[in-house]
Amino acid sequence: EEAPLEEAFEQTIARNDRIEPRDWMPDDYRKTLIRQIAQHAHSEIIGMQPEGNWITRAPSLRRKAVLLAKVQDEAGHGLYLYSATETLGVSRDDLTRRLLSGTQKYSSIFNYPTLSYADVGTIGWLVDGAAICNQVPLCRTSFGPYGRAMIRVCKEESFHQRQGYELLMTMMRGTDEQRAMVQESVDRFWWPALMMFGPPDGDSPNTERSMTWGIKRHTNDELRQKFVDMTVPQAKALGVTLPDPELRWNDERQAHDFGSPDWEEFWQVVKGNGPCNAQRLAHRQRAYDEGAWVREAAMAYADRQVDENV
Ligand code: 3HC
Repeated sequence: EEAPLEEAFEQTIARNDRIEPRDWMPDDYRKTLIRQIAQHAHSEIIGMQPEGNWITRAPSLRRKAVLLAKVQDEAGHGLYLYSATETLGVSRDDLTRRLLSGTQKYSSIFNYPTLSYADVGTIGWLVDGAAICNQVPLCRTSFGPYGRAMIRVCKEESFHQRQGYELLMTMMRGTDEQRAMVQESVDRFWWPALMMFGPPDGDSPNTERSMTWGIKRHTNDELRQKFVDMTVPQAKALGVTLPDPELRWNDERQAHDFGSPDWEEFWQVVKGNGPCNAQRLAHRQRAYDEGAWVREAAMAYADRQVDENV
């Protein structure tokens, strides 16, 4: 006979309703939410680095302003998601420690370098495009604070995707060198963008339970397929080719067949051996150390408020 609290939890999930922080929840539900939302938050913050790399070298004031706005948005997305994680009983400091010690991860995509300015457009178009495919269903995730954070994030993410696509469209209408720069960038980011959706469903230990609990509304492979089907016509409109010889429309499936990402590379990057893993964490560590005085000042100020109010 299920305990009433467990039954209430199961019924809420079955009704596709929201579980709120004060509701009873299974320990493993709490644990997997802390894991996923924290990693999502870490991804937003670390994701500021690859694009931030081009803020000082943007080709015009307009491109600089748009890029600044996007990078600032990512910081805000990190804030919403860390706040959602804190409702599950973990502190911001603890999450930062787990990121810096490597016990918590961030999205593999940010361990690739941004070697040309076209990467700013490709990240907007492909990386934020993939993030949108993954984040729209998360607006209906069963944990309240996470789903509500996603609604705001998705609105801003669409601007990120459009500015990237418009940047690439402008370059494709430019010189041969600019067209070659775009194609080279797409060639570098296409497969890592497909890896963002996670391992194939058969190698995904968390998917089944996350689907049962309504944390995930689609599997990794379903979202990856959706992203490929959405992106192929956009690539055609841009005039770039996608670096996958097996990519073709399958009339029977009413979807595109496509090749397999290099999962060996994926697991290496997830394990910390990607091109930029060490650089990204060292940069984050340096920002944390250089920001210590701000945290200390804020705590001293807060303590003084308490003393004065006592
Ligand atoms: N990068 C790093 N690690 C990954 C990964 C990726 N792309 N995909 C999977 N993994 C890890 C998982 O974390 C898990 O390891 P863990 O158990 O130690 O946490 C392991 O690989 C197995 O993967 P699973 O499929 O079993 O894990 P999940 O069920 O958690 O699915 C996920 C992975 C689809 C990424 C899911 O966690 C998710 O949807 N997360 C929220 C979305 C997110 O993180 N998006 C980041 C995109 S970047 C971004 O948003 C910034 C944008 O503004 C540019």
